This record gives sequence, C-alpha cells and structure tokens, in this order.
Amino acid sequence: MRSPKQLAKLAMLLLLALLLLCNGVRNVHCSRIHENSVDLHSLIEFNKSITDDPQGALSNWDTTTHFCHWNGVNCTTTPPFRVKQLKLSGWNLGGQITSSLGNLNFLETLDLSYNNFVGPLPILGNLQRLQTLYLYHNRLNGMIPDSITNCSNLANLDLSANSLVGVIPPKLDLLSNMSYLNLSRNSLAGVIPTKLGFLSNLTVVDLSVNLLVGQIPPKLDLLSKLFYLDLSGNSLVGQIPPRLGFLKNLEYLYLGSNQLEGSIPDELGQLLQLEQLLLGNNKLTGEFPRMPS
Ligand SMILES: *[C@@H]1O[C@H](CO)[C@@H](O)[C@H](O)[C@H]1NC(C)=O
Ligand SMILES: *[C@@H]1O[C@H](CO)[C@@H](O)[C@H](O)[C@H]1NC(C)=O
Ligand SMILES: *[C@@H]1O[C@H](CO)[C@@H](O)[C@H](O)[C@H]1NC(C)=O
Ligand SMILES: *[C@@H]1O[C@H](CO)[C@@H](O)[C@H](O)[C@H]1NC(C)=O
Ligand SMILES: *[C@@H]1O[C@H](CO)[C@@H](O)[C@H](O)[C@H]1NC(C)=O
Ligand SMILES: *[C@@H]1O[C@H](CO)[C@@H](O)[C@H](O)[C@H]1NC(C)=O
Repeated sequence: MRSPKQLAKLAMLLLLALLLLCNGVRNVHCSRIHENSVDLHSLIEFNKSITDDPQGALSNWDTTTHFCHWNGVNCTTTPPFRVKQLKLSGWNLGGQITSSLGNLNFLETLDLSYNNFVGPLPILGNLQRLQTLYLYHNRLNGMIPDSITNCSNLANLDLSANSLVGVIPPKLDLLSNMSYLNLSRNSLAGVIPTKLGFLSNLTVVDLSVNLLVGQIPPKLDLLSKLFYLDLSGNSLVGQIPPRLGFLKNLEYLYLGSNQLEGSIPDELGQLLQLEQLLLGNNKLTGEFPRMPS
C-alpha cells in the first residue's frame, strides 16, 4: 500500500506530464479540445455505450487527436470547432445511442442508419439546428419522444425499419420545415395526426407497414409539394378523402392493405402526375375513376 502522501506525489507527477504533453508536441490538440469540452464529452459518452464495432469504425476515436478528425465526425470550419455532422451509417455498430448527442447543439446531420443499435431513441430536443435525422434500419424500440418536435429545423426524418411503438407525436405539425418523413416498418399505433396536413413543405410521407388506425386525415390538400404518399399496410378505415385528388404533384399513391371502404373518389382522376396508384387489399367498391388521357 502506498501512503496518501506518495499518491499525491504520483498525481502531481502525472499532472505535470500531462501539462508538458499539452504544451509540447500536442499543443494544438489539447488547447482545442478544451475549447469545446461539451462536444468532446458528448462523443466520449456516445462511444462508451457502443458495445460492438466489428469494422473498427471508431478505431481512430482517440483523445490524442481532435474529435473533428474522428471517423464520421465533421465540424464547423471556424472556431470554436463544433460538431456539425455525425455520420456512421452501415458499420454494424451495436449498443445504445446515448442522449449525450443531444448536447451537440451545432449538429445539423445525425446519420446512424444501417447499424444494430438497440434501446430507445436519444432525446435530441435541444438540437435547434438539426436538419437531418437518419436512424433507419436499426433495432431501436420505445416511443418517439415528444421532444423531437422541438427540433424546429428538422427537414428530413427517417426512423423507418426499427421496432418503434406508441403514437406519432401529435405535435409533429410544429416541424414546419419537414420535407421527407419516413416512419415506415415500425409498430406505430394510433391515428395519423390531422395536423400533418399543415406541413406544407412535405414532399415524401411514408408511414407504411405500421399499426395505424382511424381515417386518412381529410385535409391533406395543402401539401402542394407532396409527390409520394404511402400509407399502405396499416389498419386505416373509412373512405379515401376526395381531396387527395387536389395533390397536384402526387406521383405515387399507395393505400393498399388497409380496411378502406366506399368508392374510389372521382377526384383521383385529376391527379395528372400520377405514376403509380396501389389500392389493393381494401374493401373498396365501384368503378375506377376515369383518368384524362
Ligand atoms: C472509445 O471506446 C473504445 C472502446 O471502449 C476505447 O478504447 C476508446 O478509448 C474510446 N475513445 C474515446 C475517445 O473515448
Ligand atoms: C465535411 O463538410 C464539408 C462542408 O460541409 C464537406 O465539404 C466535406 O466533404 C465533409 N467531410 C466529410 C468527411 O463528410
Ligand atoms: C426545447 O428548446 C428550448 C429552446 O431551445 C429549450 O429551452 C428546451 O429545453 C427544449 N426542450 C426539450 C424538451 O428539449
Ligand atoms: C426552414 O429552413 C430554412 C432554410 O432551409 C430556414 O431558413 C428556416 O429558418 C427554417 N424554418 C424553420 C421554422 O426552422
Ligand atoms: C422508407 O423506408 C423504408 C424502410 O427503410 C424504405 O424501404 C422505403 O423506400 C422508404 N421510403 C421512401 C419513400 O424513401
Ligand atoms: C420550406 O422550405 C424552404 C426551402 O426549401 C424554406 O425556405 C421555407 O422556409 C420552408 N417553409 C416553411 C413553412 O418552413
């Protein structure tokens, strides 16, 4: 056993060595690291909860180099160098995605798609600059946190092909910049939020293969940029809203494998851009609307 005095001496020596290291060879790195320790510690926390890295994606995540040089990390080009992108797609990473990433408040893109992440979605409510969130093709479970509606710049949200449960956050309409929304192939239940129809920047909505119930929101006709709508493979009931025929730019409309009933509205015949229309496996009756030739 060492005495407390010896231990203190040892600690002092270590500190001295560290300081020398910082002021010497690795001058640049050390000073920069201290500039924004929030980002550094967020990434270290994230790295800690990775249990599996078969392809060595994180092998250069080493505190002797600045984190802006770590694989998958991209920073702002001016000081203080803050993390702008974290992209680690398709590396077969396992473990959980820590909510420490929610402290990277300069983050614009988070892409951890095509991995084997498990556990809940991270809480990212403070990421006001986040534009792209790709967590598709993982094994994430639990609910979509309401706090996601705080990421007011979010334009691309893809959480598809996971095991998410619960409802689509009803306040999704706060994300007025949303353009690409893909929540397909999960176990999301409840209704499609009616206010989705107010997200006028939407171009793609894919909610297919979930457990959604209730009716198709009647007022989606404000979505003038929408060209892709896939609600197939749910348990939607009621009629096809005639106003879907006002979606002038719609090219792909998939409503198959639901429990829709009634006749196919004539208005669908007004969809001049339509390339594909799949309505099979419902309880629809009557005739197919005449399409202008
Ligand atoms: C990341 O995790 C690995 C494995 O646990 C570890 O060896 C490495 O030092 C960690 N890197 C950082 C920057 O924390
Ligand atoms: C980092 O971002 C810059 C500018 O946005 C881009 O030119 C560069 O290709 C990116 N680097 C990586 C590794 O993604
Ligand atoms: C939402 O954003 C505000 C403003 O940036 C922040 O104060 C608040 O803590 C955030 N809420 C959540 C749940 O992250
Ligand atoms: C929407 O995006 C534009 C540019 O992409 C940006 O200028 C604007 O602030 C964003 N709006 C909101 C509500 O975040
Ligand atoms: C949505 O995600 C699923 C599963 O990841 C994918 O197969 C599908 O092509 C995506 N939809 C669109 C419109 O990109
Ligand atoms: C829609 O997107 C454009 C840029 O693509 C942006 O300038 C505009 O602010 C967005 N609209 C809304 C309502 O956020």
